[in-house]
Amino acid sequence: MTSFAILLFLHFSAVIVWLGGMTIMHFAVRPAAVQTLEPAQRLPFMAASLARFFVLVIVAIVLLLATGAWMMHIMASVGRLPSSVQAMAGLGLIMMTIFGHIRFGVFPKLRRAVAAQSWPEAATRLATIRKLVALNLALGFITVAVAIIGRTLLA
Ligand code: HEM
Repeated sequence: MTSFAILLFLHFSAVIVWLGGMTIMHFAVRPAAVQTLEPAQRLPFMAASLARFFVLVIVAIVLLLATGAWMMHIMASVGRLPSSVQAMAGLGLIMMTIFGHIRFGVFPKLRRAVAAQSWPEAATRLATIRKLVALNLALGFITVAVAIIGRTLLA
């Protein structure tokens, strides 16, 4: 069970980094940039901040998938895989798909627009990313609620 505790710790650390990062980006960094910077400074700044944050998210996702799958394997081997864990995995996969769309679909277009100094186009792309991050943030807290409340109710 020690190894399970370590896996759960690593899993939860990845959750903290991903959800905490989205919270800070959405509620602090972006509004502060809008308040203090002109588009010609704000959009390159946001693109550079997101580029760094997305590296952390990719590490968090790899960790979530590896630890989550490993814990599921351990739980399945003792015949205890509650529906809350399956729901968490499903919601987690949806979140990862949305992130994939942000990182590999929309973000390259934001970068190209910033490189071309096309500020209205860059602002449109950033607005799309903001909405998708807000969606993933909401899904993230629902996933945590499902995981924790499910564990308590089904214990
Ligand atoms: C798709 C990949 C994922 C898989 C396969 C997975 C699987 C698991 C498993 C097997 C556990 C242990 C459950 C238990 O001990 O009862 C767990 C715990 C947990 N997971 Fe995930 N998970 C995934 C993604 C996520 C995501 C994306 C989040 C949050 C955004 C999340 C949040 C949590 C939390 C908060 C716990 C701790 C629950 C508790 O100990 O009460 N998981 N996960």
